[in-house]
Amino acid sequence: MILVTGGLGFIGSHASVSLLNAGYDVLIVDDLSNSSIDVLDRIEAIAGRRPLFEQMSLLDETRLADIFQRHHPSAVMHFAAFKAVAESIQTPLAYYNNNIGGTLALLSRMQIAGVRSFVFSSSATVYGSPATLPIKENFPRSATNPYGRSKLIVEDILTDLVASDPSWRIANLRYFNPVGAHESGLLGEQPRGTPNNLMPYLLQVAAGQRARLDVFGSDYPTKDGSCVRDFIHVVDLAEGHVAAIRYLKEHVGMTSFNLGVGRGISVLELCEAFERSTGQSLPRQVAGRRAGDVAECWADADKASAELGWQATRGVEVMCQDAWRWQCYLDRREDSRETSGEPAK
Ligand code: UD1
Repeated sequence: MILVTGGLGFIGSHASVSLLNAGYDVLIVDDLSNSSIDVLDRIEAIAGRRPLFEQMSLLDETRLADIFQRHHPSAVMHFAAFKAVAESIQTPLAYYNNNIGGTLALLSRMQIAGVRSFVFSSSATVYGSPATLPIKENFPRSATNPYGRSKLIVEDILTDLVASDPSWRIANLRYFNPVGAHESGLLGEQPRGTPNNLMPYLLQVAAGQRARLDVFGSDYPTKDGSCVRDFIHVVDLAEGHVAAIRYLKEHVGMTSFNLGVGRGISVLELCEAFERSTGQSLPRQVAGRRAGDVAECWADADKASAELGWQATRGVEVMCQDAWRWQCYLDRREDSRETSGEPAK
């Protein structure tokens, strides 16, 4: 039984499907602060099995203790966290409380229960503005906002924990830019309010819900002046987590892995790929730079390939097509709710 925190969120829901497909039993813990309960039905529809589910915050220590006692998980995958950079600058205490406090409560409970295998959702944001590319796992780390710092601090806590007790098995996974959706079109990213990230915003523009995409910056020292990122299909990312769970069976200590494709794609290239692969037009205009963006960021993915035996296989066209299928599903659902008078979730 794998305990998946934040298992109804964008990445956690795909990881839950991959775990179920690989034969693991899954217990999802999610407080629904940025997800909805019907994701559980869709995970079941895709995987053919329903994960166990508990709606709760990790900060509820009594319930957390009860869950470990009743279910005896063999490993924990920890996705539950806030992730919006701008919001983290407005409400740093909420970010530190949830992202660090929640992780501390979870790790403390694992220690008491004797559960020592942990997969952590970190981010390429911990590399700040890299001096050279591609980015390797041993590059210096830094943070420029509370969200990034919360990831950095948890990484340091995990390092200290392993130093105190080398029987811990920790895979620290640094995600590059997860996009795309499950190929069924039933799972994907569903941000509340105006999306901050590129792909969800782009999808709403293509769906006609927003007038146009602002491309933030055209004067970066990159191939076409727009920023370059390592966009990775969320199902590839999810499969990387299954590889990490298998890896932890054989390895003690803490190891960090980049989960990326290992290739940089510019914002403009992504827009073109989207139009080409979906046939949808994407009205866009060049806008000023967004504060805090780095020009280029892509992974050296060799370590994950060599040690986890995992690499991303889905190309940018598939990322765009799957994401578009998900957007169409959301739009159809919205339409049927409007006709039936049902409130949107
Ligand atoms: C962002 C966060 C990062 C976090 C990650 C996952 C910032 C600075 N970084 O990464 O810490 O780990 O999300 O949540 O917020 N873009 C546009 N128009 C848009 C939206 C984005 O041109 O409407 C551009 C951005 O300038 C950037 C690229 O698209 O160059 C990707 O942006 P985004 O999807 O927000 O990801 P990151 O900024 O790479």
